[in-house]
Amino acid sequence: MDSVRIIVCYMSNILTHLSPYLPMGAHQKAGQIDYGEIETVKTLIEFENVTKEYKIGEVPIKALNGVDFSINEGEFVVVLGASGAGKSTILNILGGMDTATSGKVTVGGKDITGFNEKELTGYRAEKVGFVFQFYNLIPNLNAVENVEFAAEVCKNHLDANEILTKVGLKNRMKNFPSQLSGGEQQRVAIARAVAKNPLLLLCDEPTGALDYVTGKSVLKLLQDLNTETKKCIVLVTHNSAIAPMADKVITVKSGKIESVTVNEHKQSVEGIEW
Ligand SMILES: Nc1ncnc2c1ncn2[C@@H]1O[C@H](COP(=O)(O)OP(=O)(O)OP(=O)(O)O)[C@@H](O)[C@H]1O
Ligand SMILES: [Mg+2]
Repeated sequence: MDSVRIIVCYMSNILTHLSPYLPMGAHQKAGQIDYGEIETVKTLIEFENVTKEYKIGEVPIKALNGVDFSINEGEFVVVLGASGAGKSTILNILGGMDTATSGKVTVGGKDITGFNEKELTGYRAEKVGFVFQFYNLIPNLNAVENVEFAAEVCKNHLDANEILTKVGLKNRMKNFPSQLSGGEQQRVAIARAVAKNPLLLLCDEPTGALDYVTGKSVLKLLQDLNTETKKCIVLVTHNSAIAPMADKVITVKSGKIESVTVNEHKQSVEGIEW
């Protein structure tokens, strides 16, 4: 009997020591708190002390002056700031279209500031979808050809017809850009970026050339895409009114980060007026 008691005592000692490493329930006693599933938040993008200097003639322009921020997987981020603040410079460095003068930019654990030209080209083609203010569609390709043209170079690209249907252009597939309204052209541009199935969707003033209602519907499309696909979207704008639609708002002023705000309760763009 004594030897049984010694074994039980010994086992219980081992369990106490191992408890942090055992699965839930193995060591839990009645009355202990069950924390349930704890969501792990993964950092996708990190800017560390990033600077960008342009030299035009003798006068250097400091477009970015020590920028630090991080973005998590699946986040919808709005980058806010006045004209000339450095918003596009941040987006272009993040998208591999420009390079930092100093500092470090990490995307998905990879230091993209260490990429050579070939790696940067691959990164831009495979991992990043861009949406610009003026759509940048190829005029002599129709909507579906514009989407296919961009997506075909990507290994895991999605079906152009499906994506165009998703953005509400099922009946406009064969239209050329000149036969589409501004809002429709921007939808093609979004479809083109999404069809690549990229890691990041980067949008620089995507509603800058659109009227209020059309602009709002484009923002709604981007918000829905973020909710459905959980793809990280970084949207640059000078319109502070749309900040509540973001998970995170990064405000830029004169090449520096003025503030980073996390919206605990982000709003649907339909409920925002400006
Ligand atoms: N290629 C370049 N050569 C020289 N200076 C540049 C270049 N690109 C940007 N700049 C300068 O860097 C600063 C930041 O420019 P950036 O385009 O990032 O601003 P922005 O916040 O996007 O402004 P906007 O809202 O007007 O688009 C500005 O002073 C701009 O003049
Ligand atoms: Mg800009």
